Amino acid sequence: MEFDTKLIHGGISEDKYTGATSVPIYMASTFHQQKIGENEYEYSRSGNPTREAVEKLIADLEDGTAGFAFASGSAAIDTVFSLFSAGDHFVIGNDVYGGTFRLIDAVLKRFGMTFTVVDTRDLQAVKAAITPATKAIYLETPTNPLLRVTDIAAVAKIAKDRGILSIIDNTFSSPYVQRPLDLGVDIVLHSASKYLGGHSDLVAGLVVTKDQALGEKIGYLQNAIGGILAPQESWLLQRGMKTLSLRMRAHLANAEAIFNYLKNQPLISKIYYPGDPNNPDYEVAQKQMHGFGAMISFELQAGLDPKQFVEQLQVITLAESLGALESLIEIPALMTHGSIPRDIRLKNGIKDELIRLSVGVEDQKDLLADLERGFDQLKGSHQDVSNSKVHSQA
Ligand SMILES: Cc1ncc(COP(=O)(O)O)c(C=O)c1O
Repeated sequence: MEFDTKLIHGGISEDKYTGATSVPIYMASTFHQQKIGENEYEYSRSGNPTREAVEKLIADLEDGTAGFAFASGSAAIDTVFSLFSAGDHFVIGNDVYGGTFRLIDAVLKRFGMTFTVVDTRDLQAVKAAITPATKAIYLETPTNPLLRVTDIAAVAKIAKDRGILSIIDNTFSSPYVQRPLDLGVDIVLHSASKYLGGHSDLVAGLVVTKDQALGEKIGYLQNAIGGILAPQESWLLQRGMKTLSLRMRAHLANAEAIFNYLKNQPLISKIYYPGDPNNPDYEVAQKQMHGFGAMISFELQAGLDPKQFVEQLQVITLAESLGALESLIEIPALMTHGSIPRDIRLKNGIKDELIRLSVGVEDQKDLLADLERGFDQLKGSHQDVSNSKVHSQA
């Protein structure tokens, strides 16, 4: 089945009891067992038909064998790290989501896990960071917010050669753009609150594996820890996922048009977009991505105030998150990455004047006009933003 057909007919596409073409929301905590131990469902933490529909769908879309749905992307990440134990070491990408960094730095370290942060584009650095205690390489590609692209197949091979796991957060791409399991990765996870849900109306996380034994371990932990996605959100998520291809085609086309506009905008000093032929990661992106995603980050010329720019846009919404129908804009230093200490953030290249844009599916003309208006109003303003307060810990 082709990807677009899988979106509609993959997973469990109809209710097995009634034939309803939308799997209903099974609001039940427990299930009547006719004979002990013979029931398909027993208790909704361990299995619920609505959740199962979305779990089977994501497994199909990522070319995996097992999928698991969680109450948030963060719960999914935490459950994946629960595969490991005190004393285990990890190689982590240096540009991961701020909340992932927070989970590692403020929580997992307390449980005796250790981490070496590297730029995973540098394969020699990845190899050099592996120690006898290393159990996994964890990364995002493209990264958040600098959209750096790592060669997924090359990292997966390093992990395989060393007998450790490779784990990729595929939130920024969605399985429409790239499918890491096909490139040899062991575990793929998502904040499904983004492109998969697609409509800014839910928070959810997904995990997919290809190896059955690994899938069983995640399933065990999902039930043991209990951070499951509720039936109502599961239904909403699978409903959103069905239009993923339709939405992604519009996202990608708009992103390309906006990149072409921004690259000629004199008030910008730097653009980060994997589809930029001048981007050092362009070739790797072309090799492994189907389209270049719909995230663009850019830095304003020194002295221009990013707050002033983002706060007066009228079509593009000032908000955290990404992958929504609405174009969303934010300042990582003050918002999504505000929990990372400033010195570490600057060391990783995330400057105070960086702006991250999640390109939505509105009409291109309106998006371009909104940006143009924003740049027009910026002209002539010169403020230092380094003292601005961090507004969010999301
Ligand atoms: C790349 C990435 N991974 C994980 C997460 C965490 O997901 P959630 O907000 O669903 O807990 C986010 C949230 O923004 C994210 O951007």
